[in-house]
Amino acid sequence: MLSRGRGIHLYDEAGQDYIDLVSGIGVASLGHAHAGLAAAIADQAATLLHTSNLYFHSLQGRLAERLAALSGLPRAFFCNSGSEAVEACLKFARRYWHTQGDVARTEIVALERSFHGRTFGALSATWAEHYRTPFQPLVPGIRFVPPDAGAIAAAVSSVTQAIIVEPLQGEGGVHPLAADTATAIGDACAKTGALLIADEVQCGLGRTGRPFYYQALELQPDLVSVGKALGGGVPVGAALVGERVAAAVAYGDHGSTYGGNLLACRAALVFLEELIDRDLIGHVRAVGAFAASRLRTLADRHPTIVDVRGEGVIWGLEVDGDAAAIVEAALGRHLLVNRTAGNVIRLLPPLTITEAELGAALDTLEAAFADVAAGSAS
Ligand SMILES: Cc1ncc(COP(=O)(O)O)c(C=O)c1O
Repeated sequence: MLSRGRGIHLYDEAGQDYIDLVSGIGVASLGHAHAGLAAAIADQAATLLHTSNLYFHSLQGRLAERLAALSGLPRAFFCNSGSEAVEACLKFARRYWHTQGDVARTEIVALERSFHGRTFGALSATWAEHYRTPFQPLVPGIRFVPPDAGAIAAAVSSVTQAIIVEPLQGEGGVHPLAADTATAIGDACAKTGALLIADEVQCGLGRTGRPFYYQALELQPDLVSVGKALGGGVPVGAALVGERVAAAVAYGDHGSTYGGNLLACRAALVFLEELIDRDLIGHVRAVGAFAASRLRTLADRHPTIVDVRGEGVIWGLEVDGDAAAIVEAALGRHLLVNRTAGNVIRLLPPLTITEAELGAALDTLEAAFADVAAGSAS
């Protein structure tokens, strides 16, 4: 029962202190109770919260401009979550081929281990069957391929509307796409004309030390979904759209009552000011280098850790069994980490975490590994 937070600390109702390496699953990007964000939200609440998209307001334009400068994609559609951002990307891809009159284009190619959200389109492109099976029938035309170069080259053809990929897969276990996989994706799009959708909801907006992880892979997506970190805790998502797709979408094709309201845009602008103007992104790169070396040392000392993957402030420690016991032992030591893909301990701290804070948290994580080893030895 958490009731209060400050920076990387969370406090329960009894006042006990926890170190938060989950940040609301990659959302509390500036840490908890960030003074600048809190002041901006309070000021906006006292000024104007919402007007709908029937009328313009300048915050939305300013936010779109900033996201366009970071991504190189000139248009933005605002919504309220990552799933909705993915949903918008999928709809815009369909709309693009409808406008071209290319009725043969019916397929979307998605990757194994993908997670894109839980609305029907996003869920249909999500790989793990336990998410999808209870909700059949899903959106048709989605085809899953392993994230390897040969499989992608074979699967993408003149019937492919779009390839949707997380440049760094989050829920699937923190797997950055391999360089040759990324090259195959770029080549397949160039060869067949298929659009590329990069889902940056979890790995984007500075978490890897770059604005977007597709940039590290030298991919050029037509559509990019963002969410999570963008509002620092205020729900906001966006589909960033290249000109050729945007030109195919007509006013009124898609919409959202709340999407891009003044509160959400104000919060997102505060986040981007911190990220870019105050160089939080440079801080993430430095903390990321520290994390890489500390986590590799941790893995050397604990043979149950079979792989360490990640960058910046997104990390996965793959263990040789279920990761639940470690997560539980960490919680017992008031450290919040989470398990994904069954055997991966995922770390998604606020972008603001310092080296000293992360170092202390990793000491606690190491103690949790020792607790579990001692428990299984006894
Ligand atoms: C890559 C990715 N896409 C989409 C989503 C869905 O976002 P939301 O839960 O905000 O709808 C998530 C959520 O974890 C995600 O990691």
